[in-house]
Amino acid sequence: MTHHHISLTQCFCPSLFLLMIIGLTTWSYLYDYRSLHVRTHPNIEGESIAVREGRLSPSRRLLDCRDECSVPPERRFDCARDRALSRAECETRGCCYVPLPAGLSGGPPWCFYPPSYPGYKMGSFFPTSKGRAANLTRSKPSYLPRDIATLRLEVAEETAGRLHLTLKDPSSPRYEVPLSPPPFEPPSAIQNSLYSIEFHSDPFGFVVRRKSNAQVLLNTTVAPLLFADQYLQMSTFLPSRLISGLGEHYTPLTLDLNWTSVTLWNRDMAPHSDANLYGSHPFYLVQEGDSLAHGVFLLNSNAMEVLLQPMPALTWVSVGGILDFYIFLGPDPQSVVRQYQEVIGYPMMPPYWALGFHLCRWGYRSTNETRSIAKRMREAKFPLDVQWNDLDYADKRRVFTFDPVHFGDLPEMVEEFHQEGLRYILILDPGISSSSQPGSYWPYDEGLRREVFIKNSTGHTLIGKVWPGPTAFPDFTNPETVSWWEECIRDFHAKVPVDGLWIDMNEPASFVHGSVDGCPDTDLEKPPYVPDVIGGQLNFGTLCMSGQQNLSTHYNLHNLYGLTEAIATYSALLKVRGSRPFVLSRSSFPGLGRFSGHWTGDVRSDWEQLRFSVPAVLLFGLFGVPLVGADVCGFGGNTNEELCVRWTQLGAFYPFMRNHNDRPNVPQEPFVFSQEAQAAMRSALLLRYSLLPLLYTLFLRAHSSADTVARALFLEFPTDSNSRTIDRQFLWGSSLLISPVLEQGTVELSAYLPPGMWYSFHDGQPYRSKGQYFLLSAPLDAINLHVRGGYIIPQQVPALTTTVARRNPFNLTVALSAEGWARGELYWDDGDSLDTYERGDYSHILFMARQSQLVSDPVRVSGALDGLVLGQVRVFGVPSPPKAVMANGETVTDFTYRSDTMSLTVASLSLPMTEEFTLQWML
Ligand SMILES: *[C@@H]1O[C@H](CO)[C@@H](O)[C@H](O)[C@H]1NC(C)=O
Ligand SMILES: *[C@@H]1O[C@H](CO)[C@@H](O)[C@H](O)[C@H]1NC(C)=O
Ligand SMILES: *[C@@H]1O[C@H](CO)[C@@H](O)[C@H](O)[C@H]1NC(C)=O
Ligand SMILES: *[C@@H]1O[C@H](CO)[C@@H](O)[C@H](O)[C@H]1NC(C)=O
Ligand SMILES: *[C@@H]1O[C@H](CO)[C@@H](O)[C@H](O)[C@H]1NC(C)=O
Ligand SMILES: *[C@@H]1O[C@H](CO)[C@@H](O)[C@H](O)[C@H]1NC(C)=O
Ligand SMILES: *[C@@H]1O[C@H](CO)[C@@H](O)[C@H](O)[C@H]1NC(C)=O
Repeated sequence: MTHHHISLTQCFCPSLFLLMIIGLTTWSYLYDYRSLHVRTHPNIEGESIAVREGRLSPSRRLLDCRDECSVPPERRFDCARDRALSRAECETRGCCYVPLPAGLSGGPPWCFYPPSYPGYKMGSFFPTSKGRAANLTRSKPSYLPRDIATLRLEVAEETAGRLHLTLKDPSSPRYEVPLSPPPFEPPSAIQNSLYSIEFHSDPFGFVVRRKSNAQVLLNTTVAPLLFADQYLQMSTFLPSRLISGLGEHYTPLTLDLNWTSVTLWNRDMAPHSDANLYGSHPFYLVQEGDSLAHGVFLLNSNAMEVLLQPMPALTWVSVGGILDFYIFLGPDPQSVVRQYQEVIGYPMMPPYWALGFHLCRWGYRSTNETRSIAKRMREAKFPLDVQWNDLDYADKRRVFTFDPVHFGDLPEMVEEFHQEGLRYILILDPGISSSSQPGSYWPYDEGLRREVFIKNSTGHTLIGKVWPGPTAFPDFTNPETVSWWEECIRDFHAKVPVDGLWIDMNEPASFVHGSVDGCPDTDLEKPPYVPDVIGGQLNFGTLCMSGQQNLSTHYNLHNLYGLTEAIATYSALLKVRGSRPFVLSRSSFPGLGRFSGHWTGDVRSDWEQLRFSVPAVLLFGLFGVPLVGADVCGFGGNTNEELCVRWTQLGAFYPFMRNHNDRPNVPQEPFVFSQEAQAAMRSALLLRYSLLPLLYTLFLRAHSSADTVARALFLEFPTDSNSRTIDRQFLWGSSLLISPVLEQGTVELSAYLPPGMWYSFHDGQPYRSKGQYFLLSAPLDAINLHVRGGYIIPQQVPALTTTVARRNPFNLTVALSAEGWARGELYWDDGDSLDTYERGDYSHILFMARQSQLVSDPVRVSGALDGLVLGQVRVFGVPSPPKAVMANGETVTDFTYRSDTMSLTVASLSLPMTEEFTLQWML
């Protein structure tokens, strides 16, 4: 880095620049920078060279170089986001144009806002029913078309940990996401709020601080607020680089801030980097350090782009709606996730069987083939709860029909599955074939009659193209559509009694851009600014933005399509089946978890996709969709035996576990592999089934308290700085640490164990960790699994279906802390009825161990637990062989102690789960 090189190429203060470069590697620099800036003086020589080279307009150059434009690259905010600008165009906007040397190109903008860029001016606050409000006005319109000169700011300090700020147009109502706000009492005064907020009146901006340490969490004065009809922009400083969220993308758990951007626009797109995928989640969580975290949710469903820069800072850009921010103060990460879900809704409770193993393939071409798959699973002794069919079942690929030739006895097949204790699910795409003979396809005829379909801009049914050919798209924002959909599902279910529905292609996906007639050439289809979407146009691979829906245009509602379909499908299944609905949706938006699970779409069968499935699952936990998994063994392309074994081992710990394959590929059902591979897969599946009582209890915690199920380490160990970015390992709840193999040919694994006592789940081998990596052997036949000292894991003897397993004896694994105690719990109900938790129709058993004894406390007991017993207990961390073991005061003889791992196993028990019991081991 030479001095003269810099001064030759830019209008920049070289001494300042040097300081900045030095500081780039150290993060504290960013905080010290401001004071350095003030003390630094421009270098006249550098300036004159730049002027001589004609890089600055003469009228601005002195000012630019001395103050306004001497913004170091990483603090620049792009003034030309909407399009590439020449120097003259940039300066016409009142922005600075300072090209960077080639070495720094590709990142920081050349055209950026000077610090004093004019914006809105804020008037004084006046009280409202929810808090307070102020008018914002700008004297001169911004450079954007249809700029909105007057805004209303509403501020509601809703709870001690939640702040709500809204910016909208007071004079003409704009589209707002139809999410009913969370119920809360507008407090007269909040006690002990975690935040303070300061407003900057000209130009308008705000600063949110954490009261406890005065840390600035948001500072929106770093760049101007812009608010035009089709371009809304707000930037903020971030207090740390550890930011997670803003899905759905193919990313690690924490995002890259090196001048990247993420686009939120639901799209049928196989997961790969830098692409907008199936869902949109405008929510992020920032780990601030010191175990603190905050989150921000922008409730807006328009196409959006979020720019991330190394300052660190981010800029939201949306092409419509309003700016509706919820800010969550935690103070710990898990509280942020809960506060977010208080706004978007807690997740549904899945049926118990949905936690079993699911098997699917596009390419099971007949009922007989489907039957034989389930039969081969059973014969090879692989657990299976749910057999699926992809679109093969449908007659001419039309939903709500079945192929009379190859699937003519589909109703009988489903009945047989039910008798075997299996469940059945099939795919349901939203596109309704529009090309059948009138009178031959009721869903379309009736839908047309009741006007349930999205219309094009001239008021005709909008026709796109999906699997059956030309299709119409139900508008699920229309109440009439919801009742028509329910009738379609009711009629179909009367013939084919499905147990759940898999709603695919619901971004919605279309094989023609916009419609078969194209789209009108308007600002909706081609807004002044198009976020960086795959294909370059909003209507690519989906419907025209001008499509008319009951609530608004498709332009506004596109990202809500899958959510609204999930709501309609959930409600139909509930009414038709009367028990807990199971819906699996590809497209998602905040709130989906209340109605549906999610799978991560068309993942390829390769090691990289296996590896990134871990952060994908963890991020959906943050988004309030805990029932999530990737297609085990991969969907696209051929899998191979080693990959499929490793994927099955990891998949056994996805909250939702389904093996699903694409048509042209080699088969990947567990039974097609070598005996050795089958044994490894079988043991992974049996391990999952033995742990379902724990998994189900975790789902209850998600449903009742917004706890995460598959949990990132940083949520559980917020004070442990090593845990912050770990996304190759994860937890189930607080107690089980999963360390999968994610690379080919691996037989050893470096696994991180957070500080504390851990035990190998398989044999009780203890690990006392200071928060360190351990080199573990990782043979192909098992997955590394550790149980955390201080926890008791409820298990059940597995079986080939949950229908059978749910009657088997329970086991407990007691992992003693270094101090010799542990605790755990079991939630149990009939697994299928609606609202068992809300109605109190469940059992809740607490387990506690200390001083060489384990006791149970049945806090609440319901009929579903009747007749079930505890059969076996393993205790890890028992320092010496017990002299005797007593159960409820009676001597037990069937126990073994392994001194190498210090683990005790007590077998042949038969203690009723509904009654309190005591197990003692006398040392
Ligand atoms: C805010 O603007 C509204 C018009 O939108 C006006 O009626 C009101 O008086 C203004 N309030 C203040 C405090 O400026
Ligand atoms: C907010 O950012 C502005 C612009 O960078 C800066 O001048 C100001 O000091 C910041 N405010 C706080 C409280 O950090
Ligand atoms: C950021 O991106 C630029 C250009 O893409 C690259 O040269 C640079 O090494 C990256 N910096 C970091 C810290 O990743
Ligand atoms: C399924 O198999 C049975 C028995 O082999 C046979 O009778 C029936 O025709 C087959 N059905 C189809 C649709 O192939
Ligand atoms: C709307 O659909 C009708 C019927 O398919 C078609 O004739 C018309 O051109 C379409 N309008 C637009 C704007 O695409
Ligand atoms: C929305 O749906 C309701 C109920 O079907 C209907 O009465 C209303 O006219 C619809 N509105 C629009 C704009 O389509
Ligand atoms: C659970 O206990 C049974 C005996 O009741 C035993 O056969 C089985 O191996 C145990 N399973 C686990 C996972 O501990």
